[in-house]
Amino acid sequence: MRLLVTGGAGFIGSNFVLHVLRERPAWRVWNLDKLTYAGNLENLASARGDPRHQFIKGDICDAAVVERTIADQGIEAVINFAAETHVDRSIADSEVFIRSNVLGAHVLLDVGRRRGVKRHVQVGTDEVYGSLGETGCFTEETPLAPNSPYAAAKAAADLLCRAFARTHGYGAIVTRCSNNYGPFQFPEKMLPLMIANAMHDRQLPVYGDGMNVRDWLHVEDHCAALLLALERGRPGEVYNVGGKNEWRNLDVVKLVLRRLGKPESLIRFVADRPGHDRRYAIDPSKIMAELGWAPRVAFEEGLSRTIAWYRENAAWVANVTSGAYQDYYRAMYQVDEQGRVRR
Ligand code: NAD
Ligand code: TYD
Repeated sequence: MRLLVTGGAGFIGSNFVLHVLRERPAWRVWNLDKLTYAGNLENLASARGDPRHQFIKGDICDAAVVERTIADQGIEAVINFAAETHVDRSIADSEVFIRSNVLGAHVLLDVGRRRGVKRHVQVGTDEVYGSLGETGCFTEETPLAPNSPYAAAKAAADLLCRAFARTHGYGAIVTRCSNNYGPFQFPEKMLPLMIANAMHDRQLPVYGDGMNVRDWLHVEDHCAALLLALERGRPGEVYNVGGKNEWRNLDVVKLVLRRLGKPESLIRFVADRPGHDRRYAIDPSKIMAELGWAPRVAFEEGLSRTIAWYRENAAWVANVTSGAYQDYYRAMYQVDEQGRVRR
């Protein structure tokens, strides 16, 4: 298989590239990534020198680069991870979300279709379904009701996939996964941010009352689901991916503190995120029944491994959070001279 991975220097994309090189030794991977603040070639250090993996720095919105890569390399399949992914950033400024997540996704579909790509996976999110009440789960039939600019842009890409499959018979498949955690996640996201802050005795900013619920899945389980969808998913279909693992944010934060032996007094309740979705929960019955996928990593075990990874990779964290991230963090959480969050 000659596979184009886009956004393969980010959190899930880099885990997926390493997963494919491990699980499918005969495949070749071209990895197109713009290297935004969230993309980091250090994530791929273990693939350095591997002739099966070729990195290309480029933007998925640039049709010429995408066309050249797909045509020159004889790409047979595409999996698109490339996107702006942080909800809070999409609230502050949504334009780049529309460019990368909508226009970029469209360029990939359009070039892929014209160049005869056979299979195309758009890596999507459960956030397109909006917010749940106390009970129930998102199925693939749940109406789309995105609440953040990030989720709205991701929903647009999903609908383009549907349209390309229906109209052109293009082999596009959409997956919609719940919140991932694991190694290489950029520390603006909740779990690595809380781990890093707790490790350094900094305050842990919990939005609102901390009772929002997220359905956590280890990134390795997500990668396994994506590989199945890429190989065996039915074109035009949507597959929800989730581990039936719902946690309230505050309980996750307390668990992180307990694991690190830090006091709960580090928790600071801060102003809520505008439009903050209350609860996400995925019904993964379809991918389990059709493709035989099942999650393997239990949350407590996965969390311990993830905390250990962040402890052992303090240099990685320091490196990716140097420079512009510090400005983002100080402005986002209104940090004072003592390092206290005020937002
Ligand atoms: P990430 O922010 O860690 O990585 C995104 C990557 O895309 C980065 O390497 C970045 O450089 C690259 N990128 C951004 N814009 C680009 C462009 N225009 N052209 C080329 N590359 C570009 O994101 P992630 O958490 O790894 O998420 C990957 C995908 O999975 C996204 O599409 C996201 O919507 C989806 N997803 C994420 C989660 C989650 O919990 N993190 C859950 C479900 C779905
Ligand atoms: P996040 O990792 O941003 O993922 P998403 O919003 O895409 O689900 O946030 C996960 C949850 O944690 C979400 O309910 C918002 C909350 N959160 C905080 O309470 N504090 C924080 O500093 C961050 C970044 C998130």
